[in-house]
Amino acid sequence: MKILLTGGAGYIGSHTAVELISEGHDVVIVDDFSNSKEVVINRISEITGTQISYHRLDIRDTETLVGICRDEAIEAAIHFAGLKAVGESVEDPLRYYDVNLGSSVSLCKAMVSLNIRHLVFSSSATVYGEPERIPLDEECRASDAANPYGRTKIIIEQILKDMQLANPDMNIALLRYFNPAGAHLSGKLGEDPTGIPNNLVPFLTQVAIGKRSELVINGDDYPTPDGTCIRDYIHVQDLARGHVAALAKLRSDCGVVTYNLGTGQGQSVKEVVSAFERSTNQHLNRRIGPRRPGDVPVSYTDPSLAERELNWKATLTIEDICRDAWHWQQETPGGY
Ligand code: UD1
Repeated sequence: MKILLTGGAGYIGSHTAVELISEGHDVVIVDDFSNSKEVVINRISEITGTQISYHRLDIRDTETLVGICRDEAIEAAIHFAGLKAVGESVEDPLRYYDVNLGSSVSLCKAMVSLNIRHLVFSSSATVYGEPERIPLDEECRASDAANPYGRTKIIIEQILKDMQLANPDMNIALLRYFNPAGAHLSGKLGEDPTGIPNNLVPFLTQVAIGKRSELVINGDDYPTPDGTCIRDYIHVQDLARGHVAALAKLRSDCGVVTYNLGTGQGQSVKEVVSAFERSTNQHLNRRIGPRRPGDVPVSYTDPSLAERELNWKATLTIEDICRDAWHWQQETPGGY
């Protein structure tokens, strides 16, 4: 299939592009490069040995987007494009609603006008907010995000469901990612945060390489066995394969489907630190700091629905994540 990847030069988009190409699909990337670099396109080309078709575009420009999709004969889309920093979304919520909702609506309009029937959307476990139960399954209440970024994900899921109701031929997969981490095995693709990383694994690798002096563990007085928060870290390679599996599902004309993509295993912050030290032979300076507002104590998924219906399962471990993230950090110490 020929697949449009919005935000395809980003962290998850770029890994998914590689996976799709290796499975025999054609990809067309659109990205405004506001939080990614053009060199990523070259890296995808190097890894796959193919020329990548790409366009610099803010997809809120519907007319240009329609032109690209028509000229490229797009058959399906994976929608990664969007802003994703939680703290920034609290400070500038209108920008988040403008960009994340505006770009989604624009993509929907383009798809409807050209009768492009298959769409995979990058949603997030953040839609579950304070978990109703653990492990989280797809039936759990998903209307409870703690910040504007998370609320844009909830609203976009609703927009897509409404669009599908009005266009019953469309097939849509809402993929709720848990905590994506790790990097491509080649060391050529990985997460490239601007400024101080918000997320745990990029922070660890920056401490190990000496860019940051120490890791501050955000609280050790949570109601968990070692007092630190528990998350479900999923290797970005497993996540990329999840998108390929979701696309295959859409071709069976399934309407709207929702899947949690995670490993089903929870790891505490302290356990991640140990896994990192063990798998990389690096020592991490750390200290315990205060809790970070908005953190829930425990979040991990029951991955069985995706396993049953997509025939997909995460296979890589927290050690694999740490090893590959560290390899990427060493290969690209200054980012792309
Ligand atoms: C965060 C976002 C979530 C987003 C996800 C993307 C919040 C509240 N949630 O999830 O919306 O979808 O990233 O991956 O921001 N930690 C430290 N020290 C650090 C960094 C992190 O102790 O320097 C801890 C955090 O407090 C948390 C755990 O590590 O307990 C994981 O943090 P993080 O990687 O930011 O992920 P989430 O908070 O789960």
